[in-house]
Amino acid sequence: EQTLQSLAAAAGRYFGSATDNPELTDTAYTAVLGGGEFGQTTPGNAMKWDSTEPSQNSFSYTKGDAVIAFAQAHGMKVRGHTLLWHNQLPGWVAQLPAAQVQAAMENHITNVATHFKGKVFAWDVVNEPFNDDGTYRSTSPFYTAMGIDYIADAFRTARAADPDAKLYINDYNTDGQGAKADAMYNLVKTLKSQGVPIDGVGFQGHLAIQYGFPTNMQANLQRFADLGVDVAITELDVRMVLPRDATKDATQATYYSNVVKACLAVTRCVGITIWDYTDKYSWIPGVFSGEGAALPWDENLQKKTSLYGTIVTAL
Ligand code: XIL
Repeated sequence: EQTLQSLAAAAGRYFGSATDNPELTDTAYTAVLGGGEFGQTTPGNAMKWDSTEPSQNSFSYTKGDAVIAFAQAHGMKVRGHTLLWHNQLPGWVAQLPAAQVQAAMENHITNVATHFKGKVFAWDVVNEPFNDDGTYRSTSPFYTAMGIDYIADAFRTARAADPDAKLYINDYNTDGQGAKADAMYNLVKTLKSQGVPIDGVGFQGHLAIQYGFPTNMQANLQRFADLGVDVAITELDVRMVLPRDATKDATQATYYSNVVKACLAVTRCVGITIWDYTDKYSWIPGVFSGEGAALPWDENLQKKTSLYGTIVTAL
């Protein structure tokens, strides 16, 4: 049977969907998630710091293990997400004296990456290090305490804990060329030149039709690949200002198609993950007021046949 995953696999890629623990009790939802359309999943929240280490040095893997178990039962590989991020951090991290941040960071990465060793094929080691203008995020307690050295240290710590996982840096609004993508490019180039163990760059792909398609996406992915790293589309969704209409749907389909084509045109683009597959569980309406309809299945778990067909054609 032809599925998004079977088509991607024929091109040497994976096609995946993120998921989250509450949804795994929805049997109509899990029937599609595990029904062959997707060869890969990413836990939307289960492996973040607030889930895995809610209080210092007290680790909790129940939610992450549940996603792993579902994936293994349905032949899906898992991207680990994420070891280090400025969001969804428990309060105790922000309250640490600066002198204790590095040890806490290394302890977190070592514990989490060790627990999931052999169960995730890749990790988003560092998530969203940049502001949109390409400067470093000073709201990150890791940046505040350690400066940019936190990034290299995080990658080295992750490699020591799980030598087989592909280690990624991941961000949004880096899909097309611009100041933020340039900053990421220069960082990855520097890390590679310093021998820091980085294997890949994730492009989240949180697109919105009202903001235009990313500039020269294929060329942008290619210049990263040319640094000697894999690239991946890690959190794709294409939102619109609601309500849906035929014109917006057509623009959205073009965006999905262009992302798929950009990835397939870059040899080192290893796969595409959508940030869940159904509008029923999309994060968009909760964060971007008045926006949504960002995914290929609607809020009733019905496949949007036109959009789905466009993705199939692009694959
Ligand atoms: C989102 C989740 O989907 C939501 O459930 C949560 O409330 C907030 O985080 N970039 C990322 C993801 O790297 O971790 C975010 O996921 C979406 C933006």
